[in-house]
Amino acid sequence: MAKLKVAILISGRGSNMAALIEAAKAADYPAEIALVVSNVAEAPGLAIARKEGVPTAVVSHRDRPDRETFDRAVSVELERHGVELVTLAGFMRIFSPWFPTRWAGRLINIHPSLLPCFKGLHVQQQALDAGVRLSGCTVHFVIPDLDAGPIIAQAAVPVLPDDDAERLAARVLAAEHRLFPLALRLVADGRARIVVAPDGSERVAIADAAAPLDAILNPLD
Ligand code: GAR
Repeated sequence: MAKLKVAILISGRGSNMAALIEAAKAADYPAEIALVVSNVAEAPGLAIARKEGVPTAVVSHRDRPDRETFDRAVSVELERHGVELVTLAGFMRIFSPWFPTRWAGRLINIHPSLLPCFKGLHVQQQALDAGVRLSGCTVHFVIPDLDAGPIIAQAAVPVLPDDDAERLAARVLAAEHRLFPLALRLVADGRARIVVAPDGSERVAIADAAAPLDAILNPLD
């Protein structure tokens, strides 16, 4: 079966990107990484992608007068490479509504909290300030609202008494590296789909009876 052509958008380190590239090397993985795009020319993740032989592109937001112009330039790159699904892996730009509308149902993001808790920046500090016992990460379809959209998969990690934001972020990041490849697999092979709930809201349904567990990683796994 033909693999889905996937792009990864990054702004920095690219460790989630590396986890996706690694997962996509498996013969039975339903997606291939066709392109890595960064809005930051110096993003360390770009060097990792190049070393892995993945095509890269830089679309700087600095050269564009407004958000939508930037979004359209990114989209042109994606189309040029035949991209069918876009993943956001530490991509730290807010889109105009144009981009999530253009890629609706084909745009997924990883966020380092159990959404809908703790959106935006300084996420781990928000979790520590709230005194939660569990935090984690979420992979979700992207809609025009920030850090919102139908949830595909989540992983939980414990918050420990001596955690600071850095220690908690490292524990969450390790879970991200496991969760994102699983979630992308569910989307790429067509098992995770957006459905409209009776109240009109959108949810993700996972088709195969055994697979929903793939979308939940527990701290004791
Ligand atoms: C990850 O923790 C990712 O969840 C987060 O940025 C980090 C990127 O690390 N993304 C967001 O906060 C987006 N709202 P990475 O570059 O090593 O993958």
